[in-house]
Amino acid sequence: MARRRQLFEGKAKVIFEGPEPGTLVQHFKDDASAFQDRKTGTITGKGVINNRISEHLMMKLSDIGIPTHFMRRLNMREQLIREVEIIPLEVVVRNVVAGSLVKRFGLIEGTPLPRSIVEYYYKSGELGDPMVNEEHITAFGWASPPELDEMMSLTLRINDFMSGLFMGIGIRLVDFRLEFGRLWEEDQMRIVLADEISPDSCRFWDTKTDEKMDRDRFREDMGGVKEAYQEVARRLGILPESGPADMRGPELMQ
Ligand code: TMP
Repeated sequence: MARRRQLFEGKAKVIFEGPEPGTLVQHFKDDASAFQDRKTGTITGKGVINNRISEHLMMKLSDIGIPTHFMRRLNMREQLIREVEIIPLEVVVRNVVAGSLVKRFGLIEGTPLPRSIVEYYYKSGELGDPMVNEEHITAFGWASPPELDEMMSLTLRINDFMSGLFMGIGIRLVDFRLEFGRLWEEDQMRIVLADEISPDSCRFWDTKTDEKMDRDRFREDMGGVKEAYQEVARRLGILPESGPADMRGPELMQ
């Protein structure tokens, strides 16, 4: 097979040129990072699980009319996606106090928020992804006011849908991060959901025990990271009861 051209390598993913114009291949690595890359490690099998979880959630969101970049899974670690122009923002939704909200406001972790809070961060590793507001975003031209409205509307729909979906499998959707991109079709531009949705980008707590089932296990050296990610996949019904050994091997999907 001809070697594909690598376009971008991030902390947990690599993006390759796709087989047709307008497509890319998103490859999920086992590498883990936290605290702006000050902590790094490897969680064997994480990439395979995140590829599967992200595929599942993107397809479910597509079913309710959320446009996404996802096209199809190619193999255990890779998915075909539409090439979009990434909007340089991380959109974070919070339902329960956790993470940086605890540090910033001295709040108690686990306190339910009176309403969901949406925050924006400017994607810049160099600057440490600073939090920004609508004024910065529109003044600096990262997104226009209608694009921001569209992102906010999609984000709230995604939060409602995913909160219910995870509640149904005994998981509290504490908070999560989204990214969006611009997709051009002919002369029309649409805002679509991009990147990934996985335990790397969400906080998931067991509703009964409050046990963490996400990247915080890595951040906080709690151990059992892979097992927690697998449990999320198992509850979503996308991992056989007996574990990942039963997952089908790489298969080329046409
Ligand atoms: P925070 O509490 O650390 O600000 O994180 C909020 C949510 O965003 C949490 O679900 C984890 C996610 N997140 C990422 O996916 N990538 C990041 O670089 C950061 C800082 C947070």
